[in-house]
Amino acid sequence: MINSMLFSSVADVLYGAHTSDQLGDIAAKMGITRALIVTDPGIIKFKLLDGALKNLETNGVKVNVYSDVVADPPESVVMAAVSAAQTFGCDGVIGFGGGSSMDVAKLLAVLIKGEQQLSEMYGVDQVRGGRLPLIQVPTTAGTGSEATMVSIITTGATTKAGVVSRTLLADKIILDATLTLGLPPAVTAATGIDAMVHAIEAFTSVRLKNPLSDMLAREALRLMAGSIEVAVKQGSNLEARGAMLLGAMLAGQAFANAPVAAVHALAYPLGGNYHIPHGLSNALVLPHVLRFNGSEAGHHYAELAAIILPGKQLSKEPLEVTELLAQYFLELSADLGLPTTLREMAIAETDLPMLAREAMLQQRLLINNPRVLCEEDALAIYRQAF
Ligand SMILES: NC(=O)c1ccc[n+]([C@@H]2O[C@H](COP(=O)([O-])OP(=O)(O)OC[C@H]3O[C@@H](n4cnc5c(N)ncnc54)[C@H](O)[C@@H]3O)[C@@H](O)[C@H]2O)c1
Ligand SMILES: [Fe+2]
Repeated sequence: MINSMLFSSVADVLYGAHTSDQLGDIAAKMGITRALIVTDPGIIKFKLLDGALKNLETNGVKVNVYSDVVADPPESVVMAAVSAAQTFGCDGVIGFGGGSSMDVAKLLAVLIKGEQQLSEMYGVDQVRGGRLPLIQVPTTAGTGSEATMVSIITTGATTKAGVVSRTLLADKIILDATLTLGLPPAVTAATGIDAMVHAIEAFTSVRLKNPLSDMLAREALRLMAGSIEVAVKQGSNLEARGAMLLGAMLAGQAFANAPVAAVHALAYPLGGNYHIPHGLSNALVLPHVLRFNGSEAGHHYAELAAIILPGKQLSKEPLEVTELLAQYFLELSADLGLPTTLREMAIAETDLPMLAREAMLQQRLLINNPRVLCEEDALAIYRQAF
């Protein structure tokens, strides 16, 4: 049992097919009269916003749509969204899209108050003052950003920085799985594995593991392990899409309070240097980090393996169960059509020491890992993943 904990999350979660068509009812009840919607061109192209816009109009809520968010958004996108919001004069913000749109919406809701510069907000608990009412509507099932107090912004050619503050937790989340029916298979697979990693790393997080995050991580894995294959192979299956969307949000609530660790620390240099999508970067190193952590976290992995592989006869030996879980994720990636080695990503073997050096910069994450991991360990893991 733990001695103390602080658990924070978004107060209201609305889940159900077509719930995004109620966005106007919800915004109006919150007192929003002029809403700034933050989204990206793909969401507009696939007409995912149409039902929500109609309902906002029905409710007399004036709307301005900022739709120029790009993946891994840079500061310039955040500032352009703020500028659009200032010109329009909004009293509420809606993030509608993947993690990129939701992360920009979080910062916009604070920056529009004009009390602080973005450059002063990076790091933990640096945000001062309040924010505008904020609703998040995810259209991918992966980052869990709708439920976290983090916003990730690209600040350099290969670097990202995070703003971490409870102020960034939204007022409401709307989970409408019909929005995710058109997500392409490769994106569904990679973002789904990312969300599963959030749950696994939250469950083994060494400093802030807590009973609420544990509960959320277990249920997230039960939902996602049982649905990821169907969601990837039969994209229009609403039940599987719903389970993935709910599972990713639960995993977001878990890792917001019990942070992720070495899988993410080793994945970030892959994203930064080769622009490999975040979920795929995680999938590539996951089995090898599990094996590395087995000696310390094997008993936790055994508990999760029973959830991920229900009905399977499991060994009582923690290292054997860890190996089984590592194999499961290798086979899952292959089955879902994802690459499983760094070699396939056209990464040169001579780059591996550079990657290991860069992974060591992620101490913010490595301090949560169940086993101490140094540069030589990181290099050995990259070699195994090669
Ligand atoms: N704040 C957090 O807690 C947190 C956690 C992890 C990652 N992130 C950040 O989230 C971002 C990644 O987010 P993401 O993976 O959700 O992708 P994304 O928001 O970058 O979107 C990627 C692409 O998917 C398309 N897309 C989104 N929904 C779609 C749908 N339903 N159908 C068809 N296409 C769709 C978008 O148009 C876009 O082109 C990164 O910037 C990452 O750093 C944030
Ligand atoms: Fe992640």
